[in-house]
Amino acid sequence: MALINENFLKLKAGYLFPEIGRRVTAFQQQNPEKAARLIRCGIGDVTEALPSAAIKAMHEGVDELANRSSFKGYGPEQGYAFLREAVAEHQYAGLNISAEEIFISDGSKCDTGNILDIFGKGNRIAITDPVYPVYVDTNVMAGNTGDADENGAYEGLVYLRCDASNGFVAAPPAEKVDLVYLCFPNNPTGAVATREQLTAWVNYALANDTIILFDSAYEAFVQDPNVPRSIYEIPGAHECAMEFRSFSKHGGFTGVRCAYTVIPKTLMGSTTDGKKVPLHQLWSRRHSTKFNGASYPVQKAAAALFSPEGKEQVAALIKHYMGNATLLREACQAAGLTVFGGENAPYVWVGCPAGKTSWEMFDMMLHDAQVVITPGSGFGAAGEGWFRISAFNSRENVEEVCRRISALLA
Ligand code: MLT
Repeated sequence: MALINENFLKLKAGYLFPEIGRRVTAFQQQNPEKAARLIRCGIGDVTEALPSAAIKAMHEGVDELANRSSFKGYGPEQGYAFLREAVAEHQYAGLNISAEEIFISDGSKCDTGNILDIFGKGNRIAITDPVYPVYVDTNVMAGNTGDADENGAYEGLVYLRCDASNGFVAAPPAEKVDLVYLCFPNNPTGAVATREQLTAWVNYALANDTIILFDSAYEAFVQDPNVPRSIYEIPGAHECAMEFRSFSKHGGFTGVRCAYTVIPKTLMGSTTDGKKVPLHQLWSRRHSTKFNGASYPVQKAAAALFSPEGKEQVAALIKHYMGNATLLREACQAAGLTVFGGENAPYVWVGCPAGKTSWEMFDMMLHDAQVVITPGSGFGAAGEGWFRISAFNSRENVEEVCRRISALLA
């Protein structure tokens, strides 16, 4: 009999979004007359069409594959040079990141999970609470935790509590950790970290030999010019941080799949006997062995987002989604709810009405307003009493959601 990875048995029932999907499907089956009214503001999935610059480039890529003379088979596992160079030039100008330090992939969710392949056992790992569940679940699968307690907190992880008192931005802990996941702009809370807060994290990491896993998948949504978009804006980060970014949200690529991870060549891990090893070398090896590169037409499409027309079209998408976020923020505030996020991120993080738990709020919004939100407790115990509204939707739907929130709560 084949033995299984028993760490999977420690995982809580289901990944958050499939669990929400199951509840929504059950509601639709039980209430067919209300099903057509359903508006989904749960999972952060884009709704608007791909920028036409990306579509055109994707078509061109497909046409190249249609001719023997321009056909391409396996590409470089780390990504085509044209895309790595475009990312370095357009996303990291002046930040001392070279194209070789950029690894193209098919998604940041995969990268933030797969990155654990290059780290050993026994690391002390910190995550924020609330948190993007992938960071936790992949550590559970990798055997880096014990069992979950009754609040769903896993033994062995260091939880950094985020709440209204710290503006949902955790400060570095007093204790030493080896790895810490930071996500800014934050999923789920929409919080952003200031330059001073990120500097404190980089200084902590340098002093404690900590690696920061910096997820900036939502950087394109930052509106405030004083808010850092990349950890590499902070001096010293090239020695202590890797960064994950994605084309999913601002480029509309959730279904197309393309992302990248930045690992500076100066970023080191250690063997048990203290020898320093570049993490770049390990991730490159891992990528070559377990990944064959994102598809050529997709990489062409991603590169086209950096063309002048592509940039304009992406800016229009961001304006659209952030306009939605503003409307949602205002509607929740007008209904007397406490609101965070939604100013530099496409997520609005809202306090539940007094006495309601996150899942009770989810059920109320589903049953009484036919609006799908995400319960804050699905992101960790500290998310209890909060819910997240995704701004990824049509303007028409968001205006309707605002009307329903006001009818339900105001
Ligand atoms: C979310 O809703 O939190 C995101 O869509 C998750 C993801 O990007 O994987």
